[in-house]
Amino acid sequence: MTSQDHHPDVQSILLTEQQIADRVAELGREIAEAYQDEPPLLVGVLKGAVMIVADLARRIDLPIDMDWMAVSSYGSGTKSSGVVRIIKDLNADITGRRVLIVEDIIDSGLTLSWLIANLRSRGPKSVEICTLLRKPDAVKVDIDVRFCGFDIPNEFVVGYGLDHAEQYRNLPYIGVLKPSAYTD
Ligand code: XMP
Ligand code: MG
Repeated sequence: MTSQDHHPDVQSILLTEQQIADRVAELGREIAEAYQDEPPLLVGVLKGAVMIVADLARRIDLPIDMDWMAVSSYGSGTKSSGVVRIIKDLNADITGRRVLIVEDIIDSGLTLSWLIANLRSRGPKSVEICTLLRKPDAVKVDIDVRFCGFDIPNEFVVGYGLDHAEQYRNLPYIGVLKPSAYTD
């Protein structure tokens, strides 16, 4: 099996490894330009953003640093509720810093709205958003996404960090999960 063959639970490949790599490189260049006067702290949201942060960081030609947060959004299965709990907080003090939150995907935007408000309350100089993927519902919430990789259809996707029940994160591409692979 080569890396681009479908996993048996994946109905189609939405973004290939090469498409992701090309777009991440472009985002890295855009971010380097936008932050050339003051490099950002990249805040990756665990676990889904691990792949995008790792690849993006190597495409930003600036002395950036990285930190991580893990949050859990209460909700069942494939829907988030907007009620968020911090599982792992930042190590860094972000007072006066320029913060760039890096997300894997924005769907309802509820998780991210909460996170932005939480980080803003800590007195950073700025908080901006970079997401690899954005689903159509994300336009319904008032979040200013400065850097977006791809706008995708309203389907449940996995791979490149994105999971269902902790599976499929290590697929090198982003694929649409077969409905038979999830139950709600
Ligand atoms: P909200 O709705 O709060 O959701 O913007 C953000 C979180 O929900 C998960 N999510 C997905 N995970 N494929 C996934 O693997 C998807 O298509 C998907 N849509 C939402 C994800 O954890 C994200 O951070
Ligand atoms: Mg996420």
